[in-house]
Amino acid sequence: MKVDYWDDLADRFSERVFEVSERDVRGVIRKTARRLGSKRATAVDFGCGVGASTRAVAPFFKHVLGVDFSEKLLRVAREKTSAGNVAYRRADLAKMNPQQFRCDVAFCFNVLLSPDDRLRRSIAANVVRAVRRGGAGVFIAPSLESELRSYQVVLDCRTRAGFDRRSAAKEVDASARRDLVSLSQGVVDLGGAPTKHFFQDEFADLLTDCGFKDVVVSRIHYPWDVVLDDAPDDIAHAEPWDWIAVGAKA
Ligand SMILES: C[S@@+](CC[C@H](N)C(=O)[O-])C[C@H]1O[C@@H](n2cnc3c(N)ncnc32)[C@H](O)[C@@H]1O
Repeated sequence: MKVDYWDDLADRFSERVFEVSERDVRGVIRKTARRLGSKRATAVDFGCGVGASTRAVAPFFKHVLGVDFSEKLLRVAREKTSAGNVAYRRADLAKMNPQQFRCDVAFCFNVLLSPDDRLRRSIAANVVRAVRRGGAGVFIAPSLESELRSYQVVLDCRTRAGFDRRSAAKEVDASARRDLVSLSQGVVDLGGAPTKHFFQDEFADLLTDCGFKDVVVSRIHYPWDVVLDDAPDDIAHAEPWDWIAVGAKA
């Protein structure tokens, strides 16, 4: 996904792109930012988009910088932000000099999405390098387990709605085959965009390889309507989730 792709989404970004901080049903982002933040600490939100995540974490820090390579998205972020402790700056995370983005806490939400493994690794490594010793980093990324689980939930909903289970399973399997671009690489087609999804331990391994210690990966849930157009109100299963990983810089 090149910068043009993101620039083109600047118009109505919030309707067209899933912003996890806007649908964080259990308030995990605020709780994590409160735990890691302090009135002396600085944070950088890497790949900030139109700044929803930047604004969500800002109350817990002395200063927060939102960084993105899309000037169009940064323009919208500046318009939407009134907090006095937030600024925005343009940079390509894959090529940036991490020394110029030193921080106590790094946030990087749904940026490691490219099917290109090397690109994801350079971004993750640069973000980890930017964090001061004793600091922390918080990454969010799509979950492959959640994606696979959602096909089972769809099947369950169809069966409960009275459809024949076997024919429903055939349909759901066909849709899974269309969506799963590469199971071995965890790449899923999301509305025409091949998007990396991680297994839980794969995500922890990536951040550990990049230099974080004690990486803990847990779930950040969002509502069913994000993945199912016709989600029944009484859906009995736990909501879908992204992974949220917190690591320490030793
Ligand atoms: C899915 S959006 C997430 C936005 C925001 N973090 C959020 O959670 O609402 C991904 C963002 O990453 C940015 N991005 C992707 N690759 C980047 C790169 N190499 N350098 C800087 N920003 C990048 C895009 O421009 C986009 O704003």
